[in-house]
Amino acid sequence: MMASKLVRFGVSLEEDLLVRFDQRIKQRKYTNRSEAIRDLIREELIKKEWTENKEVTGAITLVYDHHTRKLVTKVLDVQHDYHTCILSSQHIHLDHHNCFEIIVTKGKSKEIEELYQKLKSIKSVKHVGFMMATKGKNLT
Ligand code: NI
Repeated sequence: MMASKLVRFGVSLEEDLLVRFDQRIKQRKYTNRSEAIRDLIREELIKKEWTENKEVTGAITLVYDHHTRKLVTKVLDVQHDYHTCILSSQHIHLDHHNCFEIIVTKGKSKEIEELYQKLKSIKSVKHVGFMMATKGKNLT
């Protein structure tokens, strides 16, 4: 996609709110307000893609003890049910007991959310993380 033209616009807001925003963006290491506002807008547009069941990408992470009876099988069964929206998965043996898994997904947001909820609802899984991402179209 070609870079679109840069447009300037004015924003009016309460001084206290701006002070708090500036403190926040300083903590987040933004060099200026424009970049911080750009990021907020992008995040909002990504949320919109997810709520409108668009084609998106995302990552799901899992931490579980592979010694727990039948747990590995359950985790794998769910992934096979959703194989059409899983691009890849990586399994890392953290220590003698614990496994860390990263599942990279691409597909309709509703399906990916469903996969996340199913993995999350498996008993004895210690942690399930979820990161919404975008295929990047129309985001510069
Ligand atoms: Ni492992």
